[in-house]
Amino acid sequence: MRRRQSQVHRLDSPEQVECCAYIKKIYTSGIIEEKVWAMKKTVRVLAGFLFLFIATQCFAIARPYSFLLHSNRVFVESGTFNGDGIFYAILSGAKEIHSIDLSPKYYYHAKERFQNNDNINLYLGDSGKQLYDIIKNIDEPITFWLDAQFCGGDTAFNGKITPILDELEQIKQHHINTHTILIDDVRQFGTWYFDYITKEQLIEKIFEINPNYSISYTDGFVQDDILIAEVK
Ligand SMILES: C[S@@+](CC[C@H](N)C(=O)[O-])C[C@H]1O[C@@H](n2cnc3c(N)ncnc32)[C@H](O)[C@@H]1O
Repeated sequence: MRRRQSQVHRLDSPEQVECCAYIKKIYTSGIIEEKVWAMKKTVRVLAGFLFLFIATQCFAIARPYSFLLHSNRVFVESGTFNGDGIFYAILSGAKEIHSIDLSPKYYYHAKERFQNNDNINLYLGDSGKQLYDIIKNIDEPITFWLDAQFCGGDTAFNGKITPILDELEQIKQHHINTHTILIDDVRQFGTWYFDYITKEQLIEKIFEINPNYSISYTDGFVQDDILIAEVK
């Protein structure tokens, strides 16, 4: 009983009354609404920055994969490596994907990574020898991402750093001559890293497939690092 009285006494204290009046004032003055509005605005601005940051990071990561903009239904890659090319091919809308690597390590890695994708066909072998076998029964224009290359480490080396000229020769054997051909690493053309094969040699070989090819370049790991051959 004594305890209850003391509670009543505290509720009536001048401090309590003053505090209640202060809270009432805050509620009726609109200060809370203003603060909530300012907080919402801050959260929106931060979310905007976060979105921009994520978008630029995604763009930076995806930048070397310009075939996103040059996709056909069928995508053929030489040099599977860790499967990122395949991943971006799926994003580009490719419905049938073929990728070959000479390194068992990367072949089996990709097998595992894409084990649930029926539309992805992986091959263990030399693209300089097997590319035609992969494409011979395809009856429509293909997007080729020619990226097979010895890059050190566990990547494959069969006496050539790049099988690119043999690959182009096999594309030439195909009954369609309007494929989109993307060749990576323009910055290395003409150097040891590309078996001293020059840009001029590559373009000459591409024109052997079809003289109507038009050649352009797009950004990869560095500016203009991907050669694009298209028949428009
Ligand atoms: C630069 S990585 C490929 C990167 C991959 N295309 C991507 O977009 O992420 C080159 C790959 O080519 C493979 N390679 C090297 N010579 C090859 C050949 N003659 N035939 C097939 N693959 C080859 C290497 O084992 C390596 O995994």
